Amino acid sequence: MAENIRIPFRILVSGARIPCMGMGTFGSDRYSPEEVSAAVGGAIRRGYRLFDCASVYGNEERIGAVFEEAFHSGVVTREELFITSKLWNDMHGKGDALLSLAKSLRDLRLDYLDAYFVHWPFPNYHAPGCDGDARNPSSVPFSADRFMRTWREMEKIHRMGLAKHIGMSNMTVSKLEAVLPRCEIKPALIEMELHPSFQQSELFEYCLSRRIQPIGFCPIGSPNRPDRDKTPDDVADVELPEVTAAAKAHGVHPALICLKWQVQRGSIPIPFSVHEKNYAANLRCVIENPLSPEEMSAIGKADKNCRLVKGQVFLWPGAKSWEELWD
Ligand SMILES: NC(=O)c1ccc[n+]([C@@H]2O[C@H](COP(=O)([O-])OP(=O)(O)OC[C@H]3O[C@@H](n4cnc5c(N)ncnc54)[C@H](OP(=O)(O)O)[C@@H]3O)[C@@H](O)[C@H]2O)c1
Repeated sequence: MAENIRIPFRILVSGARIPCMGMGTFGSDRYSPEEVSAAVGGAIRRGYRLFDCASVYGNEERIGAVFEEAFHSGVVTREELFITSKLWNDMHGKGDALLSLAKSLRDLRLDYLDAYFVHWPFPNYHAPGCDGDARNPSSVPFSADRFMRTWREMEKIHRMGLAKHIGMSNMTVSKLEAVLPRCEIKPALIEMELHPSFQQSELFEYCLSRRIQPIGFCPIGSPNRPDRDKTPDDVADVELPEVTAAAKAHGVHPALICLKWQVQRGSIPIPFSVHEKNYAANLRCVIENPLSPEEMSAIGKADKNCRLVKGQVFLWPGAKSWEELWD
């Protein structure tokens, strides 16, 4: 029988518990809904209790069937899982957030989410599987007024009890400065790209100091990310000398060092894998052999400011470079 790990928790500003690590469910345009949902089922049996879903990943229906089976068979209860989903960019500010949430809830076979995120702070979208040069001519720059119209819908969803927490994703400090004072309900969580070569220290500390829990995506450096998100200058986290040195000392794969570093730093990584050997090891690594203060400090100095998910497909007409998305 598979080892079932009891994962430690963090406490959110609401007082709710959230596992200190979860599992991502974006198949990176490479893994089918069947493969991803099978991994979710295996991960629940191993002890994962947090799953990061999104309507745009195109697999919520299959994952919902796996959740339902896990509840019926008594492997886990709904209350033991922390399940998130995200509002996709084509559903912003038109009164559609509730519709979008309803579809995610129906697909996931749930009557509430533990957290619902605004996936990107723009109403700009691209077709699934598009290449890096794809542009949508109706894309627009960030506007705090437009974002707040969407956030009001998120607040309503929270008040209705359909999402126990609401969150934002792909934000910057300056965008947060523009919107946080206007929020009636502040985000409890913010999802952001976080890995040793992209530490976003300013944004990370900004969130922690406001009791907003950072959730870290691409925590291993997303080696199988879609081709549109690959550029020749990208750094591979699992090859950073500070990471490989710790991996050698601990006798583990460098991917596990990336995860340990993040959990000990205070973020909640959500690594993805369809391979049981990998996702089981990822979960186990957060409860054994922590990194030493020296290893934490060495990796903390390994930042290369290497953003992987640059978001260039969301650029608007006239915008010159993906950097404009990030202020
Ligand atoms: N909010 C957003 O805008 C946003 C953006 C991107 C991602 N996300 C979320 O974040 C999640 C994670 O990001 P990601 O999937 O891009 O990147 P990631 O978790 O950094 O990397 C995933 C890759 O790492 C490999 N891997 C996992 N564990 C491993 C291990 N122990 N040893 C060796 N290789 C290992 C996996 O390969 P194998 O499958 O071969 O094991 C997988 O292809 C996504 O699934 C999604 O839920 C959110």
